[in-house]
Amino acid sequence: MKYLNRRDFLTVAGAAAGTLALAACGGEQTTDEPAADETTDGATDEPAASGDLGLITEGTLTVAVSPDFPPFENLDGDEYVGFDIDLMKAVAEQMGLEVEFKNLQFDAIVPAIQAGGQADVGCSGITIDDERLEQVDFSTSYYIDDQCVVAMTDNADVTADTYEDALNQDGVVIAVQSGTTGETYAQENFPAAKVVPYGNATDCFAAMQAGTDGTVAVVTNLAVGEKMVAEAYTDAQIVGKSATGEEYGVAVSKDNPALLDAVNAALAALDEDGTIDELTTTWMG
Ligand code: ARG
Repeated sequence: MKYLNRRDFLTVAGAAAGTLALAACGGEQTTDEPAADETTDGATDEPAASGDLGLITEGTLTVAVSPDFPPFENLDGDEYVGFDIDLMKAVAEQMGLEVEFKNLQFDAIVPAIQAGGQADVGCSGITIDDERLEQVDFSTSYYIDDQCVVAMTDNADVTADTYEDALNQDGVVIAVQSGTTGETYAQENFPAAKVVPYGNATDCFAAMQAGTDGTVAVVTNLAVGEKMVAEAYTDAQIVGKSATGEEYGVAVSKDNPALLDAVNAALAALDEDGTIDELTTTWMG
């Protein structure tokens, strides 16, 4: 039995994962030969399998992210920080890759992954839903979130007791992030209100605080609402919660099942070894 180094092992594992597809095209694969380039290109220290994953930059996992959504992702100066950031760093490490983050507006991420060329995966608190599943594949979910309604603490009209009726009125303005489940939630649950989409999630909170165009509430995911009112907008409060149980996943092109498998394998390992639990404690406390 031939000794397999890590690179060989991943090549074989990748080939095995592709067996079905190859068999379907009548292709034949020999997996027991040493890789031809192993001794000739001098690149044996290269991250394993990166060539097989169709990455935009060899050896690097390029992750599309909209850094406006703490505690999942935001910018601290020029540095990307948050749960998703740490998660994708760990996923890349599991895959033997470097990681690079690419800043995209949230509603551009799924289309960018579908179109290809800008990023390998999208990880940005993206809820797995049927519409998006038509455009991209998703990894197994790594976090479950809900929706919440946030209002200014001194707004006596929009409180935990009144918000359901108070927000469902003509002329009431609710800020949401464009293309999010929060936008859909607000439209469905407060159909009489004017739901105003912002490209950037944090702009929604700024608009509510300033009362821009009469904005009195923000609808967003609960983990984000909680973080915002605890840190950046301490003059606001959560007035309502809704247990939507949204599952967050990593978006991968439908054309790249090998990458999806590799991301899922990395997530499974990080689940198994407690990393995902640790990140949850670190970022959501
Ligand atoms: N979970 C929501 C959705 O998938 C919002 C995600 C927003 N993410 C962000 N990084 N701004 O629609």
